[in-house]
Amino acid sequence: MNKMIDLRSDTVTRPSAEMLAYMMKAEVGDDVFGEDPTVNALEEYLASMFGMESGLFTPSGTAANQIAIKIHTQPGDEVICDQTAHVYLFEAGGIAFNSGCSVRLLNGDRGRFNIKQLETALNDPDDIHEPVSRLVVAENTSNRGGGSVWDYDDLREISEFTGQHKLAFHLDGARLFNAITWDGTQPENYGRIFDTISICLSKGLGAPVGSVLLGNHEMMKKARRIRKLFGGGMRQAGYLAAAGLFALQHNIPLLKDDLRRAQTIAKSLSQKSFIDSILPVESNILIFTLNKDFPSDNFLHILQQNNILALPFGSQTIRFVTHLDFNDEMLEVVVNVLKAI
Ligand SMILES: Cc1ncc(COP(=O)(O)O)c(C=O)c1O
Repeated sequence: MNKMIDLRSDTVTRPSAEMLAYMMKAEVGDDVFGEDPTVNALEEYLASMFGMESGLFTPSGTAANQIAIKIHTQPGDEVICDQTAHVYLFEAGGIAFNSGCSVRLLNGDRGRFNIKQLETALNDPDDIHEPVSRLVVAENTSNRGGGSVWDYDDLREISEFTGQHKLAFHLDGARLFNAITWDGTQPENYGRIFDTISICLSKGLGAPVGSVLLGNHEMMKKARRIRKLFGGGMRQAGYLAAAGLFALQHNIPLLKDDLRRAQTIAKSLSQKSFIDSILPVESNILIFTLNKDFPSDNFLHILQQNNILALPFGSQTIRFVTHLDFNDEMLEVVVNVLKAI
């Protein structure tokens, strides 16, 4: 097989012929005027799935998260999240740039923090020296945590805590459907405990572009204005929203295959002496560390010579992500290449 097997990210998928055909047939209008029926249908579809009032289609997951942070905060406030959070590490400093907020980092377990950690991070609202703690962000699945899935009860407890302390609670649910695939939690349970949720359509679900931010009417009204301010208001975006609708209607059940394939790769890696450790696989992300004498560059080079791409996650650490364009035939190739190293 000459074609590259690309395991760098689940963002590399291309729309299928069926998805493209569905996109071509979309009814469209000017979405900045709120007149694109397909965008409206996508926003309503996801909002009703999560039992939330309203949705907002955004160009990316970063846009959805950053808009959420902006609507929940004022400059000078503090955002609390895990030290590995995408909103902190990989959104180009957007929390500071867009919202003028400071960040309090928690040292969670593979991206998942607990109430105790949250309690100690909370500033005293009556102490004028301290920034006002305003927003808590959780990420499910946690990318940097190796696709780890939060225990729903832990999130529910945190939600009770944020409610008591008048903090907003946002979920970076870029890969929330992968988490749902792992533990079967119903989407409306997430809708019940978060103020806002961002969902990516262009990762495991296989759409080429787009995310949706969910929340109540008032928040989404504000979010619509912020999306415009950030330059994310799109016109005949229904062609893209159609891809999202198609993805939601067809591709959610396929996420279990991504999980199975990631688990299969992990199993074959676990038999190799050059592996130091592998994070438990709970979704489509697999992070593993090589022995000290095997730098990740060398490992990646060997993979590349065998037409396999992966991402370095540190000098000894590698990330594989399985996705819609990675099938069982490719899995067999990867397993055989790993066997031969
Ligand atoms: C957990 C998480 N949140 C948000 C994003 C941002 O998505 P986008 O690349 O669409 O901006 C990503 C992207 O990889 C992610 O992994």
